[in-house]
Amino acid sequence: MLNKLKKKLIQIVETYLSVSKLYVGGYLLNLFGLQVLRSIFKNLIFKLSLYNPKVDDLSISDELERNGIVIIKNFMPHEDFISIKSCLENEETKKLFTYSKNYSKTNVDWLHGKIYKNHIKTKKIYEILNNNFKKYLPYIETVLKQKIRNEVQFNYQFLSLPLGKKDINDSNANIHPDKFFPCIKAFISMKDCTKLEEGPFFYMKKSHKWNLNRIKNEYINSVWYFKSKKINNHSDDKPFKRKLDYLENLSEEPIFCEENSLIITNNMGWHKRGRLAEGQHRKFIRVLFYNDQLSFHKRIIKNLLIKKIEKQKINSLNNKDSQAR
Ligand SMILES: [Fe+2]
Repeated sequence: MLNKLKKKLIQIVETYLSVSKLYVGGYLLNLFGLQVLRSIFKNLIFKLSLYNPKVDDLSISDELERNGIVIIKNFMPHEDFISIKSCLENEETKKLFTYSKNYSKTNVDWLHGKIYKNHIKTKKIYEILNNNFKKYLPYIETVLKQKIRNEVQFNYQFLSLPLGKKDINDSNANIHPDKFFPCIKAFISMKDCTKLEEGPFFYMKKSHKWNLNRIKNEYINSVWYFKSKKINNHSDDKPFKRKLDYLENLSEEPIFCEENSLIITNNMGWHKRGRLAEGQHRKFIRVLFYNDQLSFHKRIIKNLLIKKIEKQKINSLNNKDSQAR
C-alpha cells in the first residue's frame, strides 16, 4: 500500500516537472477541441517569438526549418572522435552505464547512461563533446526560440539484438511525434548506421510544420488516443499505430549516417526508432533539450533534484570503485 502511494507520488512529481504531454484531458474534452486549443496556443507563442540567434551556417538552419531534420557529417575532429570512442569502449567506463537485457520486453539489450561532467572517468570526454557541441547550440535555439542555459546532457546508448531474436514491442518503434510544439533531440553517431538492419532513426520530413493539416491531425489523434486507450490499454512495450490521415503525402525515411555525424531533429515531426536485425547493433550519444523547455521555476527544482541524485550516484560509483581496488 505504502509502496503504491510512493509510486503514485513520484508519478505526480514527474508529470509536474515534465514538459507538456502530447495529449491530456481525456476523450470528451478532446472531442470538444482541447488539443486544437493547446496546439494553437503553444504554437502561436513560437510563431510570435522575436528571439533569433545568430548562426554561422545558414544552410544548416534552413534545412532544419525546411525538413525538420539535418545531418552534419564529421561533427568533431577525428582525434576527438577516436578518444571518445575508445573511452566509451573501455571496460572501466562501461561500468558507469546501466546494462538492461531485453529492455522493455523488446529483446534488445541496452547499455545506456549519462556521460557525467563530474566523474573522473568521463570528465575529459564530456569536455570534448561539449566543446564540439557548443557551436551547434544556436541552430537548436533558433527552433526552440530561446537561449539554452542548462548544462548540455549527453547520454550514451548502445543497442544490440542477439542472434536468433526479433526486435519486438516498444511504442517508440511506431511512427509518432514527441510533442505538439517544436522540440529538439540530437544524436551523435559513434558507428556507421548505413543499412536498414542497423536500426536507423526514421523521420517523416516536413511533418514538423504547424499548419491546418497538422491541427486536423492533432484533433483526430487526441480523440482516437483516449478512445482506443480504453480498449487497447496502451503501454510502452506495446506498439500502437497512430492516425496519419492528414499526413498522407509525407513518407517515413530512414536517416542513414556515417560515424561521427550529428543529427539534429525536431521531434514535433513524426519519427520512430528503426528495428534492429538479429546480431546487429547501433551506438549513439543522445542529447535531449526537452528540460530546457520547462518554465523557469520547474527548471530550477528539476536541476536541484538531478544534481542531488547525480551526486549520490557518483559517490556510490566511486565507493564501488575503491572497494574493487
Ligand atoms: Fe519519440
